[in-house]
Amino acid sequence: MAEFVRVADIADIPDPGKTLVEVDGDMVALFHVGGTFYAIDDVCTHDGGPLADGELRDYKIACPRHGAKFDIRTGAALSMPAVRPTRAHDVKVEEGGVWVRLRSAAGAGGPPLHGAIAVPVVPTSTCCTPAASREAGGSTAESTGAGGPLCEDRVREMLKEVKDPELFVNIVDLGLIYGVTLSPAADVPGKQHVSIDMTMTSPACPAGPQLIADTKRAVGASPEVSAVEVRIVMDPPWTPDRMTEAARDQLGIF
Ligand code: FES
Repeated sequence: MAEFVRVADIADIPDPGKTLVEVDGDMVALFHVGGTFYAIDDVCTHDGGPLADGELRDYKIACPRHGAKFDIRTGAALSMPAVRPTRAHDVKVEEGGVWVRLRSAAGAGGPPLHGAIAVPVVPTSTCCTPAASREAGGSTAESTGAGGPLCEDRVREMLKEVKDPELFVNIVDLGLIYGVTLSPAADVPGKQHVSIDMTMTSPACPAGPQLIADTKRAVGASPEVSAVEVRIVMDPPWTPDRMTEAARDQLGIF
């Protein structure tokens, strides 16, 4: 097992505060919050973003690249586009210094040590609550009314063609579709105007413009549709528990 390595003096890191340290050749983000020190890999599991450079709020660090958030106490991924935890390490305070011992893998060996300070146990993931949304079971051909007049369920089926370019999961199963509204097109008799309320996994989602364009293309291809309007809605914010079981299976989240 790795040994504890002294990485900083206690006084070096304000509370709240963070810094980047090296432990046995690995770069580790070290945090000081509420009188306790925490250490996680300086690596976002989405695409390697440097977590120590992110914004720290309470016990959450936001990746500066695409906004995924991690719990600094456990390394758990709290928001997309990250779905896997980053490694959390053991930390102790001794002889005026902060010491870190590397763990071998994310989630290995139980909760990290935090010197003599008791730390409440928090969930290692927020992604495990079964979704109770309408998307959970998917729409069957029978329920979508395929072949009948255009309806919300048929539009949702069309939207399943649109996939997040990073996660390769469709936007319906990801829980990004908040609402679909159809209304008769005023200018084209017999056709429908489709309005879609869609969210993003994070406000800075780099795939946003592509998802909007793909959404308009997928629904607009129907001969029954005159126009497609996409509204981006960030309230309520997207959370991983909006994903269907199918999406969780695809992403390997249990
Ligand atoms: S690299 Fe961290 S969110 Fe993309």
